[in-house]
Amino acid sequence: MPVYSQKVMDHFSNPRNVGEIPDADGIGEEGNPVCGDMMTFYIKVKDNRLTDIKFKTFGCGAAIAVSSMVSEMAMGKTIEEVMKITPKSVAEELEGLPKNKFHCSNLGAQALHKAIENYQAKQQAKGVAVPLTAAKASASHEGELHVCPFCEGEVSAADLPFCQACGVKLLFCPKCGEVVARDATKCPHCGAELNPPKV
Ligand code: FES
Repeated sequence: MPVYSQKVMDHFSNPRNVGEIPDADGIGEEGNPVCGDMMTFYIKVKDNRLTDIKFKTFGCGAAIAVSSMVSEMAMGKTIEEVMKITPKSVAEELEGLPKNKFHCSNLGAQALHKAIENYQAKQQAKGVAVPLTAAKASASHEGELHVCPFCEGEVSAADLPFCQACGVKLLFCPKCGEVVARDATKCPHCGAELNPPKV
């Protein structure tokens, strides 16, 4: 059974900012096709700052703790500061997560960044200029936490295309975003068919 920090247990038992914002300025939803869990963040923005944030999470205890922590980290921050919140910084604020729960923190930062992107798309539709720094961050794997499928060592996007511990070639599965061997024909996490590059 995974061992959780006291902070994870606290945020899981007493999650902050649970709920919905009916007139949200931005909504971001992210799911993991492997475990089936879903997170949705609702944000209110005034003068480039998050004035309110709420979430609804259907998922494991770690996912609930991650959502709660993400909401606390983002509340009152500017858009630029919010975009700097990464799965790694969330896991650090929670005083660590077990390796098999890394994907839960990836989900939280991705859903939050999608809410910002949704807000910005609405702003753009109104003809308001959007700073490039914050655009399309959800496509980036920066700060995500992963485990090598071979040696179970921690790998980050910066390490790819290799696991720094065992040297195996890796890539991101386009369906679930998990790390897989570069020559795999099937993702071991979500079962997606892969087309390994012919070298
Ligand atoms: Fe799916 Fe935690 S097990 S988000």
